[in-house]
Amino acid sequence: MTDFVVRPCADLAEFDRAVMSIGQYFGQELDAERAERFARILPVERMHAAWEDGEIVGGAGAFPFPMSVPGGLVDCAGTTVVGVAPTHRRRGVLRAMMRAHLDDAHERSEPIAALWASEETIYGRFGYGIAAYAGEVTIPREHVDYVVARERVGRIRIVEPDEALEKFPALWEGLARTRPGVFIRSPDWWDLRTLADPPERRRGAGPKRFALLEIDGEPAGYALYRHKMEWREGVSSGEVRVVEAIAPEPAALAEVWRYLLDVDWIAGITSSLVPPDHPLFFVLAKARRMRYRMGDGLWVRLVDVGAALSRRTYPEDGELVLDVRDAFCPWNEGRWHLADGVAARTDASADLALDASTLGSAYLGGIRLAQLAQGGLVEELRPGAIERADGLFRHGLHPWCPEIF
Ligand SMILES: CC(C)(COP(=O)(O)OP(=O)(O)OC[C@H]1O[C@@H](n2cnc3c(N)ncnc32)[C@H](O)[C@@H]1OP(=O)(O)O)[C@@H](O)C(=O)NCCC(=O)NCCS
Repeated sequence: MTDFVVRPCADLAEFDRAVMSIGQYFGQELDAERAERFARILPVERMHAAWEDGEIVGGAGAFPFPMSVPGGLVDCAGTTVVGVAPTHRRRGVLRAMMRAHLDDAHERSEPIAALWASEETIYGRFGYGIAAYAGEVTIPREHVDYVVARERVGRIRIVEPDEALEKFPALWEGLARTRPGVFIRSPDWWDLRTLADPPERRRGAGPKRFALLEIDGEPAGYALYRHKMEWREGVSSGEVRVVEAIAPEPAALAEVWRYLLDVDWIAGITSSLVPPDHPLFFVLAKARRMRYRMGDGLWVRLVDVGAALSRRTYPEDGELVLDVRDAFCPWNEGRWHLADGVAARTDASADLALDASTLGSAYLGGIRLAQLAQGGLVEELRPGAIERADGLFRHGLHPWCPEIF
């Protein structure tokens, strides 16, 4: 171990170098203009840099965005661009940055943090737990029929980015009202990240297309997608690559997908970050053919257990005492009494004992404590407590975070 100093970046030049800690793994170079744009989404002071002997050797950022949880939105530190120079790996730089990152979120009263993990072995030790699953699909063009052929509803138009910027955000926010795990994008995020389409991000495909579904003249859903055209042995082996297909209502989402599945002159349709209860599973006649490959999606860390538990809602009445272990954020340690939607410290005997990371997994209602208990992650101290806890924590739809941040 050496003496690292971790502190927020002071200016754009530091920010650019700190982001390069992970950028180098993507083959990037320092780029002041890109840093300036990125700082409009990730504020400079939310980017921590680890220093050694006057050099930046690591970086970790936090997007400040609200995230949907059962019953509403909660301020979230969106853990992002975490990287350590290959010259300094496994010397405690990440640990020091996570210390600063979670202390900072705590001081800012952000009840939760969330992330997408490059590897599933990294973040459990810092109290993050898998809170949602997501999957990739590749649907062959010959297997796109729905169980019941539908009358087309509404109309779909290709729109320009300006109109997309005007109409898409309300649909995304509509999704946030039905699904936990959706973060709210700022106008700059929409502009610079969602709608922007720099050629280096196209990975061999064409430009982003913006398709808007209107039903009775009102926006009801949208898709962002690209064409990747290829030919093999005289026939198209091209793809439609769905970047995101969003609609708050399931029927509208099925309609947006009907459009994407019907595009001519392709061999298949690909998409990722599809939740395991997506309407496609139920409307596609041959859902097997989409070869769903599921993995961990969003990870959640309860930065402040009391505030986080009190900010979400619960579908039924009931009370519960949780004994929370939290070695990395010891301010959460101890017993919490949850009743009437409010969590408070208690001396009462506990119903369940679990780590903060396990509670993070259960928090959005997508992973049941009964499932987590299968992995030995929950200790039931009173018979029936797991079932009672699942009654409280459950949520109708699986969490869905449609963008990796
Ligand atoms: C992952 C990464 C940030 C780790 O940084 P680091 O400074 O080497 O990590 P630390 O030395 O602080 O290790 C902290 C702990 O995490 C463990 N760890 C670190 N990286 C790990 C990995 N990839 N897999 C499993 N364990 C890992 C360490 O063994 C250590 O364990 P301990 O708590 O038992 O001591 C770094 O390897 C990196 O930049 N990787 C490439 C980019 C990347 O994957 N970033 C994450 C984006 S989500």
